[in-house]
Formats: sequence, C-alpha cells, structure tokens
Amino acid sequence: MLKNFWYALAFSTEVAAKPLRVTALGQEFVIYRTAAGEPVVMSDLCVHRGGALSDGWTKGDCIVCPYHGWEYEPGGACARIPSYPMGTPIPRKARVDAYPTEERYGFIWAFLGDLPEAERPPIPPLPEFDDPQYRAVYGNFQWNVHYTRAVENGMDIAHTPFVHAGSFGNPDKPEIESYEVEGVEWGGLATVTLEPPPPTGIWGMLYKNKERRGVRTSAGFYMPNVTRLEVHLPIGNMVILTCHLPVDEHTTISKWLMLRTFFTQPFFDGDSRKRAVAIFKEDQPTVEAQRPELLPYDLSAELHVRSDALQISFRRIRNECLDKGWGIDTHLIQTEFSNKKAVVIPSPARREIPELAQAWVMKEVPIQKNGERK
Ligand code: FES
Ligand code: CO
Repeated sequence: MLKNFWYALAFSTEVAAKPLRVTALGQEFVIYRTAAGEPVVMSDLCVHRGGALSDGWTKGDCIVCPYHGWEYEPGGACARIPSYPMGTPIPRKARVDAYPTEERYGFIWAFLGDLPEAERPPIPPLPEFDDPQYRAVYGNFQWNVHYTRAVENGMDIAHTPFVHAGSFGNPDKPEIESYEVEGVEWGGLATVTLEPPPPTGIWGMLYKNKERRGVRTSAGFYMPNVTRLEVHLPIGNMVILTCHLPVDEHTTISKWLMLRTFFTQPFFDGDSRKRAVAIFKEDQPTVEAQRPELLPYDLSAELHVRSDALQISFRRIRNECLDKGWGIDTHLIQTEFSNKKAVVIPSPARREIPELAQAWVMKEVPIQKNGERK
C-alpha cells in the first residue's frame, strides 16, 4: 500500500458532526465535520493512551477523546487537557496526525502522507461530474482481494468477453485491437472499440431504433487506486470512477460513482445501481481466486501480452512509488496478537514540528485476544 496520495475514504453523505470510523490501509481513521460543515480526517489514535477518537464526540470544531476528554483541533493540535490545572501550557507534542481533506465528486478525500502541498499528486480529474447532462449514483462493493488486483481488473479490457459474457461482454469478439496507453498525470488511459451485445432490461428498450455499431470504450487508472471506465453507448454516455480502498492486505472496498446521460430521472437510479453491482459480482469469483493475492513487484513474474499494456504501466508507476519509499509496512499489524502494533501514516505537520518527526510513527497499542483495542 502506498502513502502520499489522496484517498477517497467515505461518501460525503456518510459524514456529519458525529465521528465516523473508517479502516483503510490497515489503520483506523476518524472523520467528522466542523461546526461550519468542513470535513476533517485524523488518525483515530489518541496520543495520550491510544483511545479511539471515533468513539468520542465533537465540540464546536474539535473532537473529544472519550477516555480522558482531550480535545483536538481540526489541524490535530490538542487544545485542551481537562486534567491540567487552568493556565498550564499544553505540550506541542500533544497532537494527532490530521490529514489534508477535500470534498469532491461526493467523496471525502484525505491526503495520507507528509508531502508538502506543492509536491502532492492531485485528486484524479472527473470533468463530467460538473456537467449537468450527467446523473450520478454511488455504491460500495466489498471483496476479499488485494486492492491492486481490483485496480487491475478495473482497467482490464480483455476480460469482458469471458467474465462478462452474460452481460456486456461479447464472447464472439474476444480480439482487442492494438491500443496506445495515453499517459495522463499519475495514470494511463486507453481507448478501444468493443462490440457488446445490446443491454437487457429497460436500457435495452432505448436500443430499439438504434443502429448496431462499435462502442468506443476507454479504460484506465489514476494512482494509486482509482479506475475510470467511459463507455459511449448508442443510447448515451456512461462514466464510472471507482476508488478501490484498501482496507487491509486481503480486503478492498471499491467505492464507485456511475454517471450517465440517459434515463437521468431519479426513478432509474435503482436500476443503474443494480447493473453496477451485477458487474462487480461477475468479476468477484475470478479476481478473488487470483494467485498470488499480492501483485508481484517483478514485472516478469507474470506473462504479459499486448492487451495488458495498461496494467504494465500501472505496475511500472507503482514500482517507482515503492522505490521512492512510499510503501507502507503493514506486516506489523498483521502478526500474532502479542506483536500487534498500530502504525500511523505521518501527516504534513511532522515536517513542520521537529519534536514530532519520529514521534508515534509507530505506537504499540494493547490488543485484546479478540483483536479489539482496549
Ligand atoms: Fe485519549 Fe486519554 S486516551 S484522552
Ligand atoms: Co470486470
């Protein structure tokens, strides 16, 4: 898993003043909104005794730890320690990691890393989101896969005639024309023409008088975990942006956003959602069965063909990030109970406050036998 990227951790609609706990990259985060409605993302680990802030509550713009009542500002600094006599200064080290946060496309994004603003890779673009022609629906799909396998599946053009033969794949046309990977900032996109069968159900009704023709389809990715699929159907356009959130080494929640220019009345949202989930369910058994579960670092470890060019470019960029030291050690939080440690992704403040540089990057937290934190 990689630090120093923006991660979509939750849908906007899930986040309110009441703190929300989200597990991602093998760690726990807390998300809440300030009095003005601004979203805040922090490490869920109180620096005092490892209390879970997400079990606490908000007070104005601050979040209050439920254990001894320490209050943290949105920037992560502790503003109040109730046990201190009035006027006692609060040590600068008393702060939790708070991450730069943005609300975009109906997601709450957090920059999980310590890079200064100017060096941060951007949130992936999605110009269609602001185009009033499009109607959006959202959903989550949880599966037992390493997120890199979910990402590669999301950009995989050659699997559709096989895995999706029952829906939009055409088993009679498995050939993939040779394509170029268009390099985009921190990602890659490719466009091909496919010949899917007409959709069934209500979408099929719109096909009645449409001429059958090839469907321009572009697929691609943005680092580290976002895939984009754009399909120019005869009945209109559809764009699906999916943020494959790594929960831990074996679990991914693919948070998807589907935009469509046809059947844009809210009445049809349920049908669109059902179609998106059906596609994930078609992919699920095949992707969950892939071995090894983790994507190999060595590019020659699997046999690539021309139609895998997008995945190869994903692996190359991922390897570059690992070589830069952006990989996160998650083995520490996976071993026997006695060795469990909580690892915190360093936030930008660590670069500005020298006393913080190394503090609490790794912090041992007592874990009970059932895996719950004390
Ligand atoms: Fe959070 Fe003590 S553990 S205030
Ligand atoms: Co698929």
